[in-house]
Amino acid sequence: MAKLIDGKAIAAEIRCEIAADVQALCARGVQPGLAVILVGDDPASAVYVRNKKKACEQTGIRSESYELPADTTEEQLLALIRKLNADPAIHGILVQLPLPSHLDQKTVIHTISPEKDVDAFHPVNVGKIMIGDYDFLPCTPAGVMALLERSGIDCTGKECVVVGRSNIVGKPQAMLLLHANGTVTVCHSHTKNLAEVTRRADILVVAVGRADFVGADMVKPGAVVVDVGMNRRADGKLTGDVDFAAVEPIASYITPVPGGVGPMTITMLLKNTVKSAEKSAETLDRQSSRVI
Ligand code: GUN
Repeated sequence: MAKLIDGKAIAAEIRCEIAADVQALCARGVQPGLAVILVGDDPASAVYVRNKKKACEQTGIRSESYELPADTTEEQLLALIRKLNADPAIHGILVQLPLPSHLDQKTVIHTISPEKDVDAFHPVNVGKIMIGDYDFLPCTPAGVMALLERSGIDCTGKECVVVGRSNIVGKPQAMLLLHANGTVTVCHSHTKNLAEVTRRADILVVAVGRADFVGADMVKPGAVVVDVGMNRRADGKLTGDVDFAAVEPIASYITPVPGGVGPMTITMLLKNTVKSAEKSAETLDRQSSRVI
């Protein structure tokens, strides 16, 4: 039987540390500020945005939310982003994805200042992740790494298999595992003999977006299984990409859904926002010591 990796508890622990960092920053005269932009009325996105706002309140981060109608023009959205780029009270800008189809995601992401890109989606930050020079960590993959670290799981020399190659999870996850000295394989929809590859994994990270995609036949006994999936069943219940009931008896560690990776993604977003505010506090300190 696998040990359960309790993402809710680990996220709560890290959020306490973040709240202390926020207090220290406030004492230096800088309250971290996050702007969250939601365009349109996708119900899942609205839930994510509400959870992000709530997490900010819990940790003392100031949040501003902009809920724009679905027919917002690209120029209107870009004008808002430029205004927030120039606002010294805002340290992080997040545009909730997906965007309505008339808005070009690439143009929108490129317009966010890399210094405020707390999602780490801007090509400047993606490039930095590639070379291990992290300003902002990609939220979900960093959440996965924190779950592994805080569960005492070392990636060094381990066979790490990532299923899924998205820009948000699969690709940056592979980089973080590689920097943690894992031997990394990325699988996708064209991978041949997928089960053969996943069965080699000591650490298996699944991010494909299909309920119960990974069964017991795809998992090596004793493997660590991390489920990034978040799928809604017909009865409204949330479920992951891993068939938990089938895999849990053979894994050594497993993350549940909900209560695994999900709470960690928002926690890493908060961490990035605090990091950005710390940088701006350092700049202010340097400027004031120059004046004196
Ligand atoms: N939509 C789904 N996941 C994410 C995320 O991590 N960040 C943003 N901005 N949008 C998302």
